[in-house]
Amino acid sequence: MRKNIVAGNWKMNTTVPEGVKLAAEVSEAVKAANPKCEVVIGVPFTHLTAVKNAIDSNVLGLSAENCADHTKGAYTGEVSAAMVASTGANYVILGHSERRTYYGETVEMLDEKVKLALENGLKVIFCIGEVLEEREANKQNEVVAEQLKSVFSLSAEDFGKIVLAYEPVWAIGTGKTATSDQAEEIHAFIRGLIAEKYGKQVAEDTTILYGGSCKPSNAAELFSKPDVDGGLIGGASLKAEDFMGIVNAF
Ligand code: PGA
Repeated sequence: MRKNIVAGNWKMNTTVPEGVKLAAEVSEAVKAANPKCEVVIGVPFTHLTAVKNAIDSNVLGLSAENCADHTKGAYTGEVSAAMVASTGANYVILGHSERRTYYGETVEMLDEKVKLALENGLKVIFCIGEVLEEREANKQNEVVAEQLKSVFSLSAEDFGKIVLAYEPVWAIGTGKTATSDQAEEIHAFIRGLIAEKYGKQVAEDTTILYGGSCKPSNAAELFSKPDVDGGLIGGASLKAEDFMGIVNAF
């Protein structure tokens, strides 16, 4: 059965004390709301252990925002998938457009990261999406099909541990949301590609999130679409009230 998920992506925001406070607030609010979706927060590496201790893991999942493309050793400043898993986190966000663009993450690096994350028992929120010029040239389907190759090399069993997040880059942090029809159109296309690769049942079971300026005022409309199974939330995940407004859109 396909799961609906609302996942926060805090990016590079909050100090550890601020993050612990926010996470505790979200955890309490989720517990009280008993929402109709799984709820996850993606937090900086420095926050994982403290946040894990501050939340109720029965109601709130915990994600890292990245992991290394190597297992261990002389990679100063990197954090491995095993290290992430050892904090008690159960997800990792990979392939975010900010990492692809600002930190030069290549398809080869992402393939390694996905593999290591899965080997260490982490579920992967794998981000795909086109930039504005590609959308204007009507190339969005081509772009996401190419990006999906990183996860289409997995076995069907491993692919079952992948949550996809379609995030049009032109909508991230810009206040410009894709319309619910634009989101549905490409989500349905993505599900079709999954069906071609893994069969109809796997496609039906895959969670496909929408990300990009998702907020309480537009979440219900986006989530009402049959192929939009939740959201990956940046800016609006930094205030418990806004984040819960999106969680409660289901
Ligand atoms: P945004 O970010 O909600 O601030 O647009 C979404 C994301 O980058 O995951």
